[in-house]
Amino acid sequence: MTAVAPAALTSEQIGTLARAVSRAPSVHNTQPWQLLVRGTEVDLLERRSVVLRRQDPFGRDRMMSCGAALTNLELALRVLGRDCHVAFRDDEDAVATVTIGRPRAVSDRDFALYHAIARRRSHRHEFSHSRVAAAVHTALVVAGETTGVHLVVPAHLDKFAQLLGFATRVLREDRGYQRELAMWTAHTTGPSATGDGVPEDALSPEALPVAGLVRTDTPVPDDAVLADRLAAENLLVVCTDGDTRAEHLAAGTALQRIWLTATAKALAASVITQPLHLTGFRARLVSELVLPGVPQAIFRFGYPEVPAAPSPRLPLGELFPDGHRGGAR
Ligand SMILES: Cc1cc2nc3c(=O)[nH]c(=O)nc-3n(C[C@H](O)[C@H](O)[C@H](O)COP(=O)(O)O)c2cc1C
Repeated sequence: MTAVAPAALTSEQIGTLARAVSRAPSVHNTQPWQLLVRGTEVDLLERRSVVLRRQDPFGRDRMMSCGAALTNLELALRVLGRDCHVAFRDDEDAVATVTIGRPRAVSDRDFALYHAIARRRSHRHEFSHSRVAAAVHTALVVAGETTGVHLVVPAHLDKFAQLLGFATRVLREDRGYQRELAMWTAHTTGPSATGDGVPEDALSPEALPVAGLVRTDTPVPDDAVLADRLAAENLLVVCTDGDTRAEHLAAGTALQRIWLTATAKALAASVITQPLHLTGFRARLVSELVLPGVPQAIFRFGYPEVPAAPSPRLPLGELFPDGHRGGAR
């Protein structure tokens, strides 16, 4: 019996993939990805032209953002009832190729994570005092632990607070850093509205200091107060064994799986990478918190008290290089 080749995607299905990818989180909401659809293969491209010299000089966060987009792409394909295989690539601009396979049943878990894609957003506020049950906490860790990615609950919060407080003070005074952040702070309404950047509202002063992006007017509580605030949150440090591009991509896919699992369980969350880019910060974090690998991101989560506003996205057409939509309209 001859095997039937898997069918190529329809334009409606490509539209579903594009919407899922577009809603992924990304550093400064730069959306540094594109899709190239080639029959039953989809390449995830990294837009290397997106450069954040101060926040992300080595492109780690850009690659992690692509990893988050890859999780959404895979989930969308599975919810379309297709099997898929993901291969890491690092040639030209492609970071991964997803090969679409035969029809398969959609699992309840994939369905729940896919539906969390549109509801997930960065929640930089304090969380409510409701406790996150141990089983829920474990579910998040299980969702994110993949080969080479480790999730660590930080101990030694006094030292963690000292380091974060120090980073906040440095970043507040760093003019180059602040100029770059201002360029990526978006106005979501009016004539200057763009489809990228972090909305001004999302960085309101009510956001917890160090839970968001540090600006010149971000208040810095003293270290003891900060340690108490950290103790009231649920934190996971996302670590990788090494520091390669493949590991940055893996950290991003894991991060998004945790974030979607949290969202599906009515939790809210935000990600912190800003201080990790300061010279020497990672090494200090590894030694002070006794981490088992290279810290790539800090994930904070809890039950929300207030809703977080959505952030803008670029038009879907910009997801396809030179308008190449593989037949999608
Ligand atoms: C790799 C990566 C690094 C990020 N770093 C930070 C950060 O340091 N501070 C912060 O407040 N948000 C950070 N974010 C969140 C983005 O700013 C956010 O995803 C983006 O503005 C889109 O908003 P949304 O998550 O609500 O969709 C990061 C996201 C990613 C994927």
